[in-house]
Amino acid sequence: MSSSVIVGTQWGDEGKGKIIDIMAKKADLVIRSSGGNNAGHTVVHGNDVYKLHLLPSGILYPNTTCLVGSGVVVDPKVLLEEISEMNKRNVTCDNLKIDSRADIIMPWHRELDRLEEDFKAKQSGVNVGTTGRGIGPCYTDKARRIGIRMYDLCRPECLKKLIKTTGEINNLMIEKVYGGKPLDLDAVYEEYKAYGEKLAKYEADGSVITFEAYNEGKTVLFEGAQATLLDIDFGTYPFVTSSHPIAGGACIGTGVGPKLIDEVIGVGKSYTTRVGNGPFPTELFDELGETIRNRGGEFGTTTGRPRRTGWFDAVIMRHAVRVNGLTALAINKFDTLSGIGTLKVCTAYKKSDGSVVKDFPVTLEELADCTPVYEEIEGYEGDLSNCRTFEELPEKCRRYISRLEELCGCPIKIIGVGAGNDQVIFR
Ligand code: GDP
Ligand code: IMO
Ligand code: MG
Repeated sequence: MSSSVIVGTQWGDEGKGKIIDIMAKKADLVIRSSGGNNAGHTVVHGNDVYKLHLLPSGILYPNTTCLVGSGVVVDPKVLLEEISEMNKRNVTCDNLKIDSRADIIMPWHRELDRLEEDFKAKQSGVNVGTTGRGIGPCYTDKARRIGIRMYDLCRPECLKKLIKTTGEINNLMIEKVYGGKPLDLDAVYEEYKAYGEKLAKYEADGSVITFEAYNEGKTVLFEGAQATLLDIDFGTYPFVTSSHPIAGGACIGTGVGPKLIDEVIGVGKSYTTRVGNGPFPTELFDELGETIRNRGGEFGTTTGRPRRTGWFDAVIMRHAVRVNGLTALAINKFDTLSGIGTLKVCTAYKKSDGSVVKDFPVTLEELADCTPVYEEIEGYEGDLSNCRTFEELPEKCRRYISRLEELCGCPIKIIGVGAGNDQVIFR
């Protein structure tokens, strides 16, 4: 048995899909344990590009079981569309399992996501900048114990009963709180009953599947979605998602204990990006930021929004090392920074009273008082995309990597030099 948790270390889109796909080749079980179709994970096999939202990134390997765990919020319409798209590309998805306990995103969740965002923007001028997929409202229903789960979706009598109360509560919110148009619950029932019929064959007990895999000595991969700084507790609250993307979330969102986990790999980029609103200390607002965005193709996999770009932030990365218990880092996109000139790395933050902060602040108020302390590092040049050993990288690039390792306090064991699933260096 070997089990690895793969987590995002920054604000998402670090290239988790690529790393999972590479590791999934040798895995027996790949598990998504949190988030929903707010995630967009890209897998590139030669000229074939797959953008996965709910399907685990091991889905291309028919012998790898792919589990959507209990901690995931599932939009059945999106999932069925994703399966159908994959079928057209000769990927059967017969290796898919969905935990009975996973909560279902209903149409009122998407509606409330939009209404709440609009309301916040109108009231205070700022909202979270969610993906609009109904993620927050679905987790809210789960926490207040009125959620509809995969088990219910697949049983018309349960679905009908729950829609009557849960649907009605949500309709009241839509109508009475936000002045929106309530949904036709009979029509919702008919539509979702049909989804349940189609998805029923995938329903399973994910906790049992994972525990059995463990006992049989199999290789298990937990595929993180979102990232550390989007964690509802340890991210830049309230500019976060509504789940636990950190390593601990893998256990909760699957139904296994922490003793099952052997290693935790944090995925990051050689710089930083963020999509949506909220603080971003090392953000670049100049032409260089634009250059990095264009060279790195920094446009959202899920919403197509341009991603905000900035320098590598070692304060954030040390936070990720700590809250996830990282045993190694996988840093992608060193190719993107090649040839852009002198590089900057944020080593600490400075407060207005002159004091230096080494740990990521707890509150946004403290963070607002912080400015990054930068260290300049000589830039590197050349085409990195064909490098397959550390020694083949330009010397200045190796120096940059070594400095990042020192500042983060964690070894960089995987180095990304391109989007392809062969464009990595293992150390
Ligand atoms: P995820 O959400 O963490 O899986 O990441 P996304 O798929 O949303 O975004 C990462 C983007 O970077 C995708 O377009 C990947 O194909 C691409 N990518 C991943 N690793 C590398 C790399 O090392 N170099 C380059 N140039 N692109 C990469
Ligand atoms: P992957 O797995 C980047 C961001 C949204 C928004 C905030 C809350 O591809 O790395 P939500 O819809 O979850 O309520 O939005 O979180 N966000 C992501 N940003 N990558 C993601 O996933 C994200 N999932 C959510 O932009 O700021
Ligand atoms: Mg993404």
